[in-house]
Amino acid sequence: MVKTAGFRMTKISGLATYVPPRLLTNKDLEKLVNTSDEWILQRTGIRERHVVEPGVGTSDLAAIASRAAIAQAGLTPQDIDFIVVGTTTPDMMFPSTACLVQEKIGATKAWGFDLGAACSGFTYALTTAAHMVAAGTHTHALAIGADVMSSIIDYTDRSTCVLFGDGAGAVVVSPATDGCGIIDFTHEVDGSGGDALCMPAGGSLKPASHETVDQRLHYVKQDGQAVFRFAVRKTEEICARIMARNNVTGQDIDLFVSHQANRRIIMSAAERLGLPPEKVVINIEKYGNTTAGTIPLALTEAVTDGRLKKGNLVLLASVGAGFTVGSILLRWSI
Ligand code: ACO
Repeated sequence: MVKTAGFRMTKISGLATYVPPRLLTNKDLEKLVNTSDEWILQRTGIRERHVVEPGVGTSDLAAIASRAAIAQAGLTPQDIDFIVVGTTTPDMMFPSTACLVQEKIGATKAWGFDLGAACSGFTYALTTAAHMVAAGTHTHALAIGADVMSSIIDYTDRSTCVLFGDGAGAVVVSPATDGCGIIDFTHEVDGSGGDALCMPAGGSLKPASHETVDQRLHYVKQDGQAVFRFAVRKTEEICARIMARNNVTGQDIDLFVSHQANRRIIMSAAERLGLPPEKVVINIEKYGNTTAGTIPLALTEAVTDGRLKKGNLVLLASVGAGFTVGSILLRWSI
């Protein structure tokens, strides 16, 4: 748990997202596995998700979102000092997605790296970028959450293939000048939950082999109920903590933007936190769980439909594989 005390305040100065055009609907999935539109909608809130065409990688989605976020901040790629990419689906093991994005957008003065926090990829990346700027060592940082989940989903496994989609979001983090910006953040990891959600092969422990491919170990494996229980409990717990230590109640929060894994997880946490439905952003029906992409996608949606305006108090929350947990309190600054 870290606070920014003693550092300069930082803010989000640009936000943009991108999803690939190709749609994969619940009806499409009915043709692949034994499922139904009704089951998926009722249990998860998802109607459709976007997926890439073959040959498109995470860095491609991230680069499109990044260019637009930088332009929105009124900057050029050369103004970016640092790039951090939260992703579970890098284009390849190495070079890092940050290197690929840096080259694609022409951020010739930036350094950076990837960060592995699964569905907490965006909150971890935002906190990391904010530290770089808050410390005074960097002026403009790019925090990206991007995933091509369709590259690691087993489309013969109905328990996981209905959940995920592809998408990317990027924010530029800059020094705050008018009091609107990042107020506080808190993060946790709980490695005891590692087995509940993982991709077993393809790393150093089980390198790719004919055997691992035959056993379908290069796909997401999940104990859905264990993840669900942890996500419900932790989303509430971490938000309650950050709210309490900032003397903020549900009444003070203008918008709750949680990671979009399951409508029921978000609504349950919101209810326990005293946040009425009109303060909760849910767009999972259109995108599914895009892992590190969900929070920027939800923020963009809220900006577009006029629910998120400069000065609003916003609470972000994420729970992901690991387990990883994060919450960020901020005053919207664009
Ligand atoms: N279509 C139809 N039936 C299905 C499907 C499907 N796609 N998937 C599972 N079922 C069946 C099961 O086989 C089971 O049948 P049975 O009772 O005959 O055994 C039944 O539906 C109920 O299965 P449960 O797993 O109990 O269903 P549950 O209500 O828990 O919903 C779900 C499953 C949606 C995966 C839920 O547990 C969940 O959302 N978990 C969180 C997982 C998650 O979002 N992970 C993403 C990454 S981590 C994160 O972002 C927090």
